Amino acid sequence: MIVSHITLKNWRNFQVVDVPLGDRVFLVGPNASGKSNFLDAFRFLRDIAKAGGGLQRAVGDRGGLSKIRCLAARRYPDVEIDVTLSSSPDNGIKWRYAIGMKQQTRGARKPFLAYERVWQDANTILDRPDDEDRRDAERLTQTHLEQISANVDFREVARFLESVSYLHVVPQLIRHPRAFTGPGLPGDPFGRSLLERIGKTNDRTKRSRLKKIETALRIAVPQLKKLSYVVDSAEGGIPHLEAVYDHWRPQGAKQRESEFSDGTLRLVGLLWSLLEREAPLLLEEPELSLNAAIVRKLPALIHRMTRKNRRQVLISTHSAELLSDKGVGPDETLLLVPSPEGTTVRRASEYKDIRDLLEGGLSIGDVALPRIDPENMQQLLLFET
Ligand SMILES: Nc1ncnc2c1ncn2[C@@H]1O[C@H](COP(=O)(O)OP(=O)(O)OP(=O)(O)O)[C@@H](O)[C@H]1O
Ligand SMILES: [Mg+2]
Repeated sequence: MIVSHITLKNWRNFQVVDVPLGDRVFLVGPNASGKSNFLDAFRFLRDIAKAGGGLQRAVGDRGGLSKIRCLAARRYPDVEIDVTLSSSPDNGIKWRYAIGMKQQTRGARKPFLAYERVWQDANTILDRPDDEDRRDAERLTQTHLEQISANVDFREVARFLESVSYLHVVPQLIRHPRAFTGPGLPGDPFGRSLLERIGKTNDRTKRSRLKKIETALRIAVPQLKKLSYVVDSAEGGIPHLEAVYDHWRPQGAKQRESEFSDGTLRLVGLLWSLLEREAPLLLEEPELSLNAAIVRKLPALIHRMTRKNRRQVLISTHSAELLSDKGVGPDETLLLVPSPEGTTVRRASEYKDIRDLLEGGLSIGDVALPRIDPENMQQLLLFET
């Protein structure tokens, strides 16, 4: 299943976002245009749906509704998120989930629901506030999404949103997980527990995934011959990744993850996550620490890794190389254009001149990136279809 459409209102630096989404989405925009904020809307729904989560916690972790609500919005409007779920981009709508949020004006100033609605196919199956909510307003401080006893009729939506994952691999954290004390972050966004996750996977799946990763890695690191997972009993069972490199020694040289390069570690983390689950994967700037030639191959690699499980991937990027792949289409590229009234988000295919230039043989990287250059942005605001 994928999120095939998202509408946001007054979410962080967006007043309104209303865009269709496909299997692959590239978020392109200058620094501070809202790429991470856009991804955060998906994480927010996950944080509501997950075990131990919920509306209060999801809002609290973000510093309260006043931090979430768009500063460019007039007065105190609702913050709204509305997602449509489909089995594939071309298939009909399966579910739609929408919430609007407000903040209590007195007392604990808790966030509460202005509404919560769920549709299955075209039928409304939940429409709050209902009579019970009107009798007891405190009920509106919790979504039905977060409550097992209340979401029976749309459990599939809760499970799906709960399994959204976010990845922004920090090589140092994979290399030295024990050097960073304190509890890990929920969902492990920075890859700290990558080795643990690999370890928990059953042996057959683990071997088959590592084989795929090994094949893909060889493109980036040609000397790498073999990638495997080993548990060091001498160290009391600490898991490691081990790579055999081509070397002047006849047996090749073995290295463990602490000696891998930043790029190798990021690629392993990225590729493992792509193979992992079926719900959407949010990827922050996968190009970091990778050389240009590899970055150019990332879109194809992502496609190959997700082809079978048809996993939706949303990717934030600054990289001209990544977008130089002619396979990246204008329909799957979202351009984020900041303005004092908030950032607007549009598909690259909505701009006629971009369509023309692409037809002329240029890539999204060639035509879209110069447009989001802060100096040229004014032009993009003069929107022409
Ligand atoms: N509630 C809000 N209202 C308005 N703006 C906000 C709000 N919350 C965050 N912002 C602004 O959003 C911007 C950050 O956006 P974000 O981190 O999503 O950018 P980005 O596109 O991911 O940038 P980068 O490429 O640097 O990672 C900041 O300028 C921040 O001030
Ligand atoms: Mg960002």
